[in-house]
Amino acid sequence: MKTRLHAHIGTLRQLEILLAVAHHGSVTAAAKALHLTQPTVSMQLKKLSEAIGSPLFYQVGRDLKLTEVGEVTTESAREVLLCFERLDMKLTKLRGLTSGTLRLAVVTTAKYFMPHLLGDFCRQFPDIDVDMTIGNRAQIVKRLAEGEDDFCVFSHPPTNDDYQLAEFLPNRLVAIAHQEHPLCQRKRISLKEFASQPYIMRENGSGTRYAIEQHMTRHNCELNVRMTIESNEAIKHMVMSGMGVSILSEHTLTFGGSAGLSILNVGKLPIKTNWYLVSLKSRPASPIATALLEFAQKNNRLQLLEDLER
Ligand code: PGA
Repeated sequence: MKTRLHAHIGTLRQLEILLAVAHHGSVTAAAKALHLTQPTVSMQLKKLSEAIGSPLFYQVGRDLKLTEVGEVTTESAREVLLCFERLDMKLTKLRGLTSGTLRLAVVTTAKYFMPHLLGDFCRQFPDIDVDMTIGNRAQIVKRLAEGEDDFCVFSHPPTNDDYQLAEFLPNRLVAIAHQEHPLCQRKRISLKEFASQPYIMRENGSGTRYAIEQHMTRHNCELNVRMTIESNEAIKHMVMSGMGVSILSEHTLTFGGSAGLSILNVGKLPIKTNWYLVSLKSRPASPIATALLEFAQKNNRLQLLEDLER
């Protein structure tokens, strides 16, 4: 009698677990992401490795690294799961666009407006589930490369022929200061003078920081960075407490509140960019993802909402 396939290459769930551990580099992080306990993840990995007959990982310090067998299995696991996703999409299509999960990964700054867009979208398609991950640009770039989501949201997307970019909303990076700051009295401030103020910067890997650094280099200016903080909200509070000035996306003020802060009129600012829904071309677009894309591009409610808040 022929042996059943999963007797020597594991079950689908085990392949999912393998992918999560490979992605997160640790059992603990994978267990958290999958909402499983750590022993369950370890046990399933052990069973998978026994079925295959070879170790899949080895330990380097606190990280797990894939063995060659692990690499090959991971690659095929991705294809297998993609195949299941395609089947799911076909079935969703047959049932009509009424259910399914929309997977999104958004950079930290996009968390101010994406919930508003999704709120409207989900009212139109009430049976859709949304799975949204938030991280800084560097973290979301990694997810995009691995094709984990239907869309990633960036204003500074990585440029690569493998990615499809769809612009859907303007993004302005504005200079902010405490409302009692002496620069608030000034009608016009040069970029050089603004740059000489103690500056509160986003962390390495942030798209906001990336755009600001590029802009400053283009205009031959160097910021007087005093502090680095990995949260837009914490930066706003630091600015409110008079610790320095900063440049943040205007969405952090319009949707996130601007009490105690003023926007400065600085030459060569704001930095104007756009938000993009970015997808991996090789990842088949689900009907829900296609519907979101159309909705985001047609829907100017976000812009209206923001104008109202302004
Ligand atoms: P950030 O990214 O939230 O990581 O700063 C924003 C962006 O991509 O522009």
